[in-house]
This record gives sequence, C-alpha cells and structure tokens, in this order.
Amino acid sequence: MKMAAGGQKAKKKDLGAIAMMHENAYVASVSLAADVNQTVRAFKEAEAWNGPSIIVAYATCVDWGHRHGDKAMVLQQVQAVESGYWPLYRYNPADVGKTESNGFELDHKRVDAKTMESFVQNENRFTSLQRSAPEHAKMLQDGMKHTFNARHEQRKRRAMGDEDLLEYLKKQMGEQVTGERVTVLYGTDTGNAEMVAKNFQFEMKRRGMKAKCLSLNDVSIGDLADESKILAIVATAGQGEMPKSAVKFWQDMETFLETAPADYLKDTKFAVFGMGDSSYVFFNEAARKIDEAFEKLGAERVMQLGMGDDQHPARFDTELEEWSPDYYDNIEAPEPPQELSPPSHLVEILSADDAKAQNVITSYEPAGSKPVKMSVKRSTVPEGYERAVDHFEFDLSGSGLSYDQGDSLGLWPSNSKEQVDICLKALGLTGDEVLNIQPIDSNRSVPLPEVITARMLSQKCLTLLVGLSADTTRC
Ligand SMILES: Cc1cc2nc3c(=O)[nH]c(=O)nc-3n(C[C@H](O)[C@H](O)[C@H](O)COP(=O)(O)O)c2cc1C
Repeated sequence: MKMAAGGQKAKKKDLGAIAMMHENAYVASVSLAADVNQTVRAFKEAEAWNGPSIIVAYATCVDWGHRHGDKAMVLQQVQAVESGYWPLYRYNPADVGKTESNGFELDHKRVDAKTMESFVQNENRFTSLQRSAPEHAKMLQDGMKHTFNARHEQRKRRAMGDEDLLEYLKKQMGEQVTGERVTVLYGTDTGNAEMVAKNFQFEMKRRGMKAKCLSLNDVSIGDLADESKILAIVATAGQGEMPKSAVKFWQDMETFLETAPADYLKDTKFAVFGMGDSSYVFFNEAARKIDEAFEKLGAERVMQLGMGDDQHPARFDTELEEWSPDYYDNIEAPEPPQELSPPSHLVEILSADDAKAQNVITSYEPAGSKPVKMSVKRSTVPEGYERAVDHFEFDLSGSGLSYDQGDSLGLWPSNSKEQVDICLKALGLTGDEVLNIQPIDSNRSVPLPEVITARMLSQKCLTLLVGLSADTTRC
C-alpha cells in the first residue's frame, strides 16, 4: 500500500457501516492487540451466525514507519483504539429485537483526545506531512479527528437502549439526571467479572429496577458523582494488578485521589465484589484498592467488600451466593417476580418406538474434539507449595491429532457419577430416557445434541452445580 504524499482529503471509508447496512450480515471491528477477548468473541459469534459474516481487523504496517520501530506496533494498535482511530464493535443480527441495543455492541466506549495526539505523532505517514506542509497536515488531521469523533458518537448512541439514550441526551443538553439507577461496573481480564456484572444487571432489571453495565475503563471519573448507586465487580490480574479493563480507570483514579475532595461521592452508594484467588499473595488486591478509593471519596458503603475466591468449591459463586442477597436487601431492591424465565430449550421424552429415538446419542463428544489418554501427571512444585502447578502429558497415538508450538488445549470436563445421580433423582428420571431437545432461546456457543439420553446429557453437556452433601441441585 502506498501513502499519498500530500495526505488524503477524502474521508476514510467506514467498511463496517457499509456492511451493516445489509442488516443480514454479522459485522465486527476488532484489533487483536487492543482486546484479545473481544476479537475471540467476534470470531466465535461470526462462526455461529447462519449467514454472511464480516470482520474488519486492524493491522499495523511496517510502511507506516513507527517512531519507536517495529516493536512498538502492539502499542500502536492499542493507541489506535484508545484514540478513537479504530473502533471495536460487534453487530449480531441474531440479537436484533432481543437486546436493548438491537444487536449492536460498542466494545470500546471511551476515546481519549490526548491519545489521538500521540497516535498521530508516532507514525511517519502522519509526521512526514507535518514536516513538509505543517498547515495542510494540521487541517487534514483536525478533519480526521473530527470525523472519528463524530463516528464514535454515532456508534455510542446506536449501542444505547432507549433509557440510556434519553439520559445521555439529557446530559448533553445540560439537564439534571437523577434516575434511581444502579451502575454496574466491571474490571476483567478473561471475562468472569463481566459475566457476573451482566448477571447483576439482568437480575436488577428482572426486579423492575433500572441498571446499566459498563467496563471501568469506559467511565470517566468526572461522571461518577452523577451516579446514585454503583456496584463494581473487579477481578485481580497478574500479581495483584488491575485487570485490563480497569487499568485506565485506575490510572486516572490514582491521579484524582491526590487532590480529590473528601465528599466528592457523598450522594453515591457503593459496593464492590472482588473476584480473586487466595493462592495468590495479593488476594483480591484490585478490588480492595477500588473499594478503598470509593470510601476515600466519601461514597456511602452498602456492603463490606465481597471476596470471591477461585479456591472455593464453586469458585467465586460460593461467596457471591452469600453476598448478593444482602446486597439486594441493602439497596432495597424489589423482590424478584415469582415466575420462571422463559425456557431456553424444549425437552420431550421420546417413546422407544419413536423413529427419532433411533438416532439417540449414547456417547457424546463435542464437534472437533477427540478423546485422548493422559499418560503423565506430575507436580512441578515442591510439596506444601502454596498452589498446584502440574505437568501433563497426553498420548495422541491413534487420535489423528497433532500440535504445534503456541497451540492451546481445550478440556471437555464431565460431571461425576455421584453428581449425575443426584441430578437425575431430583428430576425424577432414571437416566435411560431418550430426550428430544429443541432450542428456543439458547445462547449456547455449542448447541446441545438433538436426541440424547438423560444420563449422557447430564454427564457430558450440562454444568451441574450439585453440592454432593448439600440438598440443593441446580443445572
Ligand atoms: C494470570 C492470573 C493472575 C491472577 N492473579 C491474581 C492475583 O494476584 N490475586 C488474586 O486474588 N487473584 C488472581 N487471579 C485470579 C483471578 O482474579 C480470578 O480467576 C478471576 O475470576 C478472573 O476474573 P476475570 O475473568 O474477570 O479476569 C489471577 C488469575 C490469573 C489467570
């Protein structure tokens, strides 16, 4: 690709917007270095969509001449997203009519004008024009910033549900916004905290409350004081570090705390639930820091910091199930409606002479996988070490599988016989029943088999949260 020496006057084409006009295509804009989770999610959704899928991906080019050399390309990809030069979004026609945002999710919501400055200072394709024709370069680059900001603004509005849009427009018009709404914020590295935050938002709405959910990096500290209730779900990464989607927020917060008034959040109620692992030295460190920051800013605490722990039997869920009921009580949330949510699947027990029952699956392996034998398992750490780090070897002979450096291994777990028996008993089944399963409103990435025995379904396909000694059973 050759850069025009005099710069490009025409606006950059918005390929994603053109593709979205067709309405029947899955469309995503991604950048691997800026957000690997978002990229992977987009590819999975694109694959699952039964129609055309288009993913527009950002890739840096050596010819753009980065000031810090080729090694800085990862940084440049991050800056392209943070500055608003490259958007991250997903449009999924499968969600049209189901989600408030009508299928459009903006995955990076807050852009930063300062980052745009360093972005254009870092690449030769921009700086060579700044040197040869400074005024012309300024005019073009100002125009470019204006276009990207305007497009970002349009995407932000498109991604909002009606309530959020109304509030956003009121704020833009300088009107006071006083909605009694909970803002659920999350800081995540690998997606757990985001999932928990979205579940909170879902539950609040089910109880008739207003709730919005966004990543910590997407909120500006200047807007926090407008929030009446904040719930932050925060994972800890690295060795006691902030997770990726809270890093920017925390940088801003640390600076803000140096001079912030002690009553800055006096009208805000807050609670923080941490998601960590007590085998790490800095257990739930990121959540602790955010919890302390809200307290220091004068916000009113409604709950002690929740400390989810990967070492508990049901990981963070163990603590979450204790913590959440008190949280809902303390914010005076209405009781949930006593009605069941619509089913995700329709399940019918087939009689033995039903023609469909002849296709029953009695041994289930997910598509693309192969059963292999583990030949070696040994510990790589001394006895008594704070956590298990094991070395595994697998015998691939006869499986037809091979691997290369950098490949990763996916494991397909099964539930134990004891758990399966408890579940079947609770459902009044023997396990030999042949089930016919039809999805109605399923968001499973791997669809359930259509005809399968009840035992195989509970052993291989469902996640059973069955406490072996507890009397509760959930599938
Ligand atoms: C590489 C890595 C580093 C972690 N470091 C910590 C840590 O220092 N302290 C802690 O309490 N938990 C730590 N954890 C546990 C995570 O916080 C926990 O698994 C959490 O559920 C991850 O949530 P997320 O998917 O939202 O990122 C770490 C997990 C991983 C994979």
